[in-house]
Amino acid sequence: MPPSYRACYSRHRCSFFRSSKGDESTVTTDSGTAVPPALDLLDDAGRALLFTEARTANSFAPTPVTDDELSRIWELAKWPPTAANVQPLRVLYVRTDEGRKRLVQHLNEGNRAKTESAPAVAVLAMDTRFHDHIPTLLPFRPELKDVFEAQEEMRESTGRFSAALQAGYFVLAVRALGLAAGPMGGFDAAALDAEFFPDGQWRSLLVVNIGHPGENPWFDRLPRLDHSDALRWA
Ligand SMILES: Cc1cc2nc3c(=O)[nH]c(=O)nc-3n(C[C@H](O)[C@H](O)[C@H](O)COP(=O)(O)O)c2cc1C
Repeated sequence: MPPSYRACYSRHRCSFFRSSKGDESTVTTDSGTAVPPALDLLDDAGRALLFTEARTANSFAPTPVTDDELSRIWELAKWPPTAANVQPLRVLYVRTDEGRKRLVQHLNEGNRAKTESAPAVAVLAMDTRFHDHIPTLLPFRPELKDVFEAQEEMRESTGRFSAALQAGYFVLAVRALGLAAGPMGGFDAAALDAEFFPDGQWRSLLVVNIGHPGENPWFDRLPRLDHSDALRWA
């Protein structure tokens, strides 16, 4: 039972109507009053898995990661929000020896062994022509495609910002599937792009090692900013 239905069940004697579009957020009581959907809380184990206990892996076990698992990462990562729903992030999964060799040569020296041990690696990239998909992704404003086409600076900044957000969602999706992620910005982006994206349409942002933790996988946990440093209130 979807959470909105469950909440409605517990609070009201109500009947449930889906809109003709199958929109589950449309829940109405017998008296016709719309009931706001109630959201579930992630339990402590889920919060630990995604946030408080999750670590950046620096070495990986030889346990394989399947293509099905890699597909399921995207099935989760694609849902959180992007500006105007443009979804500019693209993913190249590298999981063959040959592909890994091509990738490793473009990583900073200190990052190479990590990727050599990872059973799968994602190269996260921004699609510089993300706006081509706007008529599908934002069907009520298809003309935004032409706005982005005409305004290169806005296209670049919007694309990079939302793709970076999606990169964060991607790391959390890896963790949600019980896998460890090792994000790395230390690589020669121009050389990597020439290697894998020679037509210039995708531009790499982040390399993410994916797998099960290997030997001594964690560095010491580094401090995090406290409320007093990071938060202001108005
Ligand atoms: C954008 C980004 C770039 C990073 N680049 C590198 C890198 O090039 N090499 C590396 O070893 N770790 C890299 N890291 C990993 C961070 O140092 C690590 O996630 C951070 O220290 C937190 O570690 P923890 O998750 O174990 O607490 C990067 C992480 C992010 C998000």
